[in-house]
Amino acid sequence: MSKKPLILGIETSCDETAASIISENDRGNPIVLANIVSSQEDVHKQFGGVVPELAARSHIEKIDWIVKKAIDNSGIRINELDAIASTAGPGLIVCLSVGLSFGKALAASLNKPFIAVNHLEGHALSPMLNSKLNYPYLLLLISGGHSQYLGVKNLGKYKRLGTTIDDAIGEAFDKTAKLLGIEFPGGPQIEVLAKKGDPNKYNLPKPIFNKGGCNLSFAGLKTAILKISKEIKNDQEKFNLAASFQKTIIEILQKKTKIAFTEFERQIKPKEKKFVVAGGVAANKEIRGMLIKICKEENYEPIFPSIELCGDNAAMIAMVGLEKFKLKKFDELDYPAKPRWALDEDALFLKGAGVKL
Ligand code: KG4
Ligand code: ZN
Repeated sequence: MSKKPLILGIETSCDETAASIISENDRGNPIVLANIVSSQEDVHKQFGGVVPELAARSHIEKIDWIVKKAIDNSGIRINELDAIASTAGPGLIVCLSVGLSFGKALAASLNKPFIAVNHLEGHALSPMLNSKLNYPYLLLLISGGHSQYLGVKNLGKYKRLGTTIDDAIGEAFDKTAKLLGIEFPGGPQIEVLAKKGDPNKYNLPKPIFNKGGCNLSFAGLKTAILKISKEIKNDQEKFNLAASFQKTIIEILQKKTKIAFTEFERQIKPKEKKFVVAGGVAANKEIRGMLIKICKEENYEPIFPSIELCGDNAAMIAMVGLEKFKLKKFDELDYPAKPRWALDEDALFLKGAGVKL
């Protein structure tokens, strides 16, 4: 029996310091041997958002023991590793540099291949850690920095079908939470508060709902929440606004996902209809429920990462590393950190004033 690959993944693109070791079982399915994630919530709480300099410092303080802990927990010896994969972008350059340099140095000292990973590709492949998934598939990537519909044709081959023209969905959740006086990171708390509120209490705008294909926009929604939040007098009104906000997001995603299904079929012409939802916001159960329902209606197979692999982690980075390792797609040690790194590099930049849809 040939030795199964052992891949170390390292993630430091934003405010999670993470390391993971994955391998494969005899059937060729990935197995997670260790998955360590250390969040910096306490570092950034008092500032209401991620402070890049503090995030980078915290990565520097923690990276050695997080990687050591992943190796110890996995039960392997460091020199048994077959490759080291680090996130190279997109993200905060001062943060990316920590995990990228650490990964390169370790690869050089062990004389093992180094693999640079796109963080977004990590999210895109994250469901492979718990379900069988073949290309092509439709991906809805909803995180703190990105909101996109993509046709995933193969490893490294993406066709963007739609994107946000302003804020990402996670950002809209976090900003709404901040306006409601919820501590950073507030996105997940909106889901909790929404359970206690009336979703029909406020009629909120749905920007570009009836135009722009499956492109998305949330900036107008944020402005409306800002106005209403100034008049909130008690907790019940706060719950009602959280519920109305979440319901509006769900209505937008419901309509835009149906358009994305049509675009996916038209542009990618898949044999099977598979729909992957990944990124931090994919942990939201109400959003999951609605997407599962429309998949049933439209004969799509819905595929989600497990809840703990929706947010940033290094198992998903190791997963991309494993796929690239099998294809011998290695990178040089001068690979740069890339603060901007789109999955579909041919797609037009669609942000800011004057965007034509
Ligand atoms: O993928 P992720 O961990 O980091 C990025 O790559 O951005 O996503 C983080 C985002 C945050 O904006 C957070 O508020 C949001 O995901 N999020 C949620 C939930 N859990 C995390 N948003 C809505 N409902 C949730 N349950
Ligand atoms: Zn992420």
